Amino acid sequence: MPTMADVARSAGVSVATVSHVLNGTRPVLPHTRQAVLDAVEELGYTPNGLARSLVTSRTRSIGLAVSAISNPYFTEILQGVEASALEHGYSLLIADPHDDPVHELRAVRLLHERRVDGVIVAPSAAPRELVAHLARHAVPTVFLDRLVDTEAITGAAGPPYFDQICADSAEPTARLVSHLAGLGHRRIAIVAGAPGLSTSSERITGYRHGLAAAGLAHDERLVVHGDSTAEGAQRATAALLSLAVPPTALVTANNAMTIGALRALREHGLSVPADMALCCFDDFDWAELFSPRLTAVAQPGRELGARAVRLLLDRLADPDRAPRTVRLPCAFVHRTSCGCPEQPEKGTLS
Ligand code: HPA
Repeated sequence: MPTMADVARSAGVSVATVSHVLNGTRPVLPHTRQAVLDAVEELGYTPNGLARSLVTSRTRSIGLAVSAISNPYFTEILQGVEASALEHGYSLLIADPHDDPVHELRAVRLLHERRVDGVIVAPSAAPRELVAHLARHAVPTVFLDRLVDTEAITGAAGPPYFDQICADSAEPTARLVSHLAGLGHRRIAIVAGAPGLSTSSERITGYRHGLAAAGLAHDERLVVHGDSTAEGAQRATAALLSLAVPPTALVTANNAMTIGALRALREHGLSVPADMALCCFDDFDWAELFSPRLTAVAQPGRELGARAVRLLLDRLADPDRAPRTVRLPCAFVHRTSCGCPEQPEKGTLS
């Protein structure tokens, strides 16, 4: 295996110069730099990442902790993170804390112990200890998908700063409710995700706005939580169906809720949209294959992942920059589970 010394000898420069070229730690004259890169190529030299980390105190790695990686939404996010990390020369260490705060803290601690340069975390509904840990150790962090009131937890408005990124939740949900109200529905229910997540509360807020905009009364019994699992959503939907006056339309607040709701409807022998209109938050590849095809809000999963990496790299480059919260728009994908006839249309919600 060729060493850095071999590269230095072949290029006619010092080992330090080779190191500066490969690590970008100091500017090197263009022709010297090219001589080093040519020698690297010719000898087939592979840099030793561990040795480099000792010199730079950076591992060029990012820790990613997102729950439910098997959920297509989070898989898309993972793809976006991975592609962007690779593009910038970073590798990824991945953990799935399963929305469990204890598991989450342990997983993120281990990532930090491995000296990742920073972490991207979709936090659980109880992230207090996690945020305190990240703040105490000043771990460069981007919170993804679920927003966290970090100042309330750390009790400080100053550094370390946390950047955050998520998709719009309230407005797209209001749009789904308005759409169903426009089709004549008066009893519209929402199967929301786990309580305590910003995505759940914002989607419920959007649901209420949608009802108010349509002049519909709000009935608390039509708001149920599926606790982020299809099983929970199935139970919650069954409870809606057993109401004295059940809803005629459902908004499911994420794709796991959609699966659970569909199972409950099938169990009760109800068909969509004849017996129950359905509009879903989250689009996924198979939404197209359902019959009827699912009317949905599509989140920009890949873009969320890629932008999270860029936020983290900006933070690494400038730890003191003002914290940012980025929100990306969703798209309304109009299909037929809402009860509308076939009408392929895709537009960005503004
Ligand atoms: N947040 C946002 N969108 C989602 C989630 C979530 O936890 N799960 C499935 N879609």
